[in-house]
Amino acid sequence: MRFPLLLVVTCLLGTTLTLDNGLMRTPPMGWLAWERFRCDIDCKDDPQNCISENLFRDMADRLSEDGWRELGYVYVNIDDCWSSMNRDEHGRLQADPMRFPGGIKKLAGYMHDRGLKLGIYGDMGTHTCGGYPGTPLDKIEIDAETFAEWEVDMFKYDGCYSNATEKEKGYPLMSKALNATGRQIGYSCSWPAYQGGLPPKVNYAMLGEICNLWRNYVDIQDSWGSVLAIVDWFFGNQDVLIPAAGPGRWNDPDMLIVGDFGLSLDQSRSQMALWAIMAAPLFMSNDLRTISSSARNILQNKMVIIINQDPLGIQGRRILQEKSKIEVFWRPLSNNNSALVFFSRRTDMPYRYQTSLGKLNYTMGSYRITDAFTYKTLTLKDTTNFVVSVNPTGVVMWYVSAPSKLNTRHYFDGGHQKNNIPDVFL
Ligand code: GLA
Repeated sequence: MRFPLLLVVTCLLGTTLTLDNGLMRTPPMGWLAWERFRCDIDCKDDPQNCISENLFRDMADRLSEDGWRELGYVYVNIDDCWSSMNRDEHGRLQADPMRFPGGIKKLAGYMHDRGLKLGIYGDMGTHTCGGYPGTPLDKIEIDAETFAEWEVDMFKYDGCYSNATEKEKGYPLMSKALNATGRQIGYSCSWPAYQGGLPPKVNYAMLGEICNLWRNYVDIQDSWGSVLAIVDWFFGNQDVLIPAAGPGRWNDPDMLIVGDFGLSLDQSRSQMALWAIMAAPLFMSNDLRTISSSARNILQNKMVIIINQDPLGIQGRRILQEKSKIEVFWRPLSNNNSALVFFSRRTDMPYRYQTSLGKLNYTMGSYRITDAFTYKTLTLKDTTNFVVSVNPTGVVMWYVSAPSKLNTRHYFDGGHQKNNIPDVFL
């Protein structure tokens, strides 16, 4: 009896699934087509905006020429509606020949030549959500091999048109198949979003072993209401979600819509700040060819990106919900630094919120504060009362340096240091 048992255990260990691909130790950053460009396949009448290789090349040009790549925005990700309606004679997926005449491999080369990476999309099921060919269980290996052969760097596996049992098999199987190709391919799983996003239906410990990131919740739309619904869900369930995240494994509240049509400037700062607190992947879905400089400044804010990309990879939490409709969020960062966000759900006028670092659980000491959007700095003792003025639907975001080290200075060589004006806060 003992020998077969040992054999079984050895076999189980041998097949244990871990996504040990070393990728995405900090949240991935880049651009993703879906929210802004959807399933526009009308290249005849709308050539600038249809899902085609031109669109992805245009975005790659902007990422590499307009300062995005250097900040970490390196993924250019194709979403739904890229493929032909039919597989080729070998049963492989193929790109739509009219819209991607050069094919995906050539497009990946275009990205790599510019220091960028290419992401592609598929679906665990018979069809993608947009009705294109899916990757059901029996197509997982061939599709993983095809993506690797095309030198793709990331794969989003959506979950339309399959049941829970199929998903339970398919998502781990795809993880294994991608690993088996020998190519490093970041793996984004939509699985939890199809299972309600919460235990017991979702096993986050297991997801962290097979996926680099996962969509937990509904699709973002171009509106403040949509951002708020996502914020409510993620922070409402933070005790479940925070332990799931860490280097190489991230909760994904969906794309940044900063630069589109639905958010005011304050709301755009709020989305950016809260996504940074959440250690969320930063995939913009906007038109980088026409984006306004104010939206670009928000998305290219170095301090917010540094907070998002902190190497500890601890997802932040909401620590206070005040009756005044001010909420306070906190994220621990490396070297005992931290980030704070004061967020207003009010709809009347800027609110003067009074508190102290001590009231926000900071221990005794004197902290160096840098405002992430104005780059103004000041020093605050834990006991000092201060006031922050928070705009309706807006945020104030602070980088808080640990008491002993006044080490934020090197982040801000942009000539903003003159503005050491504590009286905006006090
Ligand atoms: C689902 C996904 C979206 C997008 C669309 C494409 O809705 O959640 O992110 O990929 O499918 O059809």
